[in-house]
Amino acid sequence: MGGVNRQWVLASHPKGMPDESNWRLREVPIPEPRSDEVLVRAIYLSVDPYMRARISPSKNYAKGVAVGEVMQGGGVGEVVRSRAPGFSEGDIVESMSFGWQEHAVLRHEVATKVDPSLAPIQAALGGLGMPGLTAYFALLDAARIQPGETVLISAAAGAVGQVAGQIAKMKGCRPVAVAGSEEKLAWCRTLGYDAGVNYRAAPDLMKAIREACPNGVDVFLDNTAGPIHDAAMQSLAMRARVIVCGRVALAGRFEEPDIGPRFLDRILTQRARVQGFLVFDYKDRYPEALKELAAWYRDGKLQLREDVIKGIENMPKAFLRLLTGDNFGKQLVKVMAK
Ligand SMILES: NC(=O)c1ccc[n+]([C@@H]2O[C@H](COP(=O)([O-])OP(=O)(O)OC[C@H]3O[C@@H](n4cnc5c(N)ncnc54)[C@H](OP(=O)(O)O)[C@@H]3O)[C@@H](O)[C@H]2O)c1
Repeated sequence: MGGVNRQWVLASHPKGMPDESNWRLREVPIPEPRSDEVLVRAIYLSVDPYMRARISPSKNYAKGVAVGEVMQGGGVGEVVRSRAPGFSEGDIVESMSFGWQEHAVLRHEVATKVDPSLAPIQAALGGLGMPGLTAYFALLDAARIQPGETVLISAAAGAVGQVAGQIAKMKGCRPVAVAGSEEKLAWCRTLGYDAGVNYRAAPDLMKAIREACPNGVDVFLDNTAGPIHDAAMQSLAMRARVIVCGRVALAGRFEEPDIGPRFLDRILTQRARVQGFLVFDYKDRYPEALKELAAWYRDGKLQLREDVIKGIENMPKAFLRLLTGDNFGKQLVKVMAK
């Protein structure tokens, strides 16, 4: 095909909080697909908090990015050449294996066709994609939320949190948001969140959560770890379920041991369950969940907010916004005009 492919590679592992110097933009020739592969040009690329773990040399659930390798990440784009059965030029596909680059060659098994009639195509990276699936399975399968329960959700205005709050409300629960600004909390209320805590402004976070959850926390979708976790664990209701989903608050000290108070007394006396959660464990059930999420979206029951930055040159900037809370909604990078 010819032409230049711009791509971000990891330049160094961060020490503490990552910054833009941890990546380097380089130009390589656009690759050619081989048998069973498609060449896809990016339209939207995703940045997600899990990428903090991928750029760490410490061991994690998935293989990290080595220095000099293309940065991992999901994307949605258009097939420009197909040598794979079932894919044609012009198809819109989503892949978690896209990488931070303008063009990707993908094996057919890591590319999923996106139906553009369901929602704007970029929803496949947000509410109708991995973050939406996370909210869905964390609440409906791992926590098994029940009507009337108080469901506390951190990073509530983000990609996962916005969907989680709406699902909790639809299921008759009382969702309570934890977020980093009054503006985000106000928007959370429009989604159906019944109460909210601004963790950046609360002088006593434990007290603020207790007041927002007077009957205790039945389900805690912990998207951040850190001080919000420490405060929320002190308000667990009887038989509470704590779903440990993310550690974005630890981004600046990711390689250090996570030392904090212990809550075994609360867990014991409340007969609480603390469960680690990874959405990828639910791969086999993605189709059923996506069908339901898409139906909610079509029926106006699920709102999706995005925060879009233009230009592949802004990938590191966009990612770093997640770690400072500058994003408001699912953070995306629009790479090329469709
Ligand atoms: N386990 C899984 O399978 C799985 C799958 C997807 C996502 N996750 C996790 O879910 C969490 C949310 O992901 P997302 O994609 O929805 O991202 P997101 O919420 O759209 O963006 C990250 C948000 O984290 C909050 N944040 C950043 N630093 C913080 C800090 N120091 N303390 C408290 N909050 C902080 C910010 O919101 P505020 O303005 O409110 O601070 C920011 O907007 C992440 O931890 C992610 O790793 C887990």
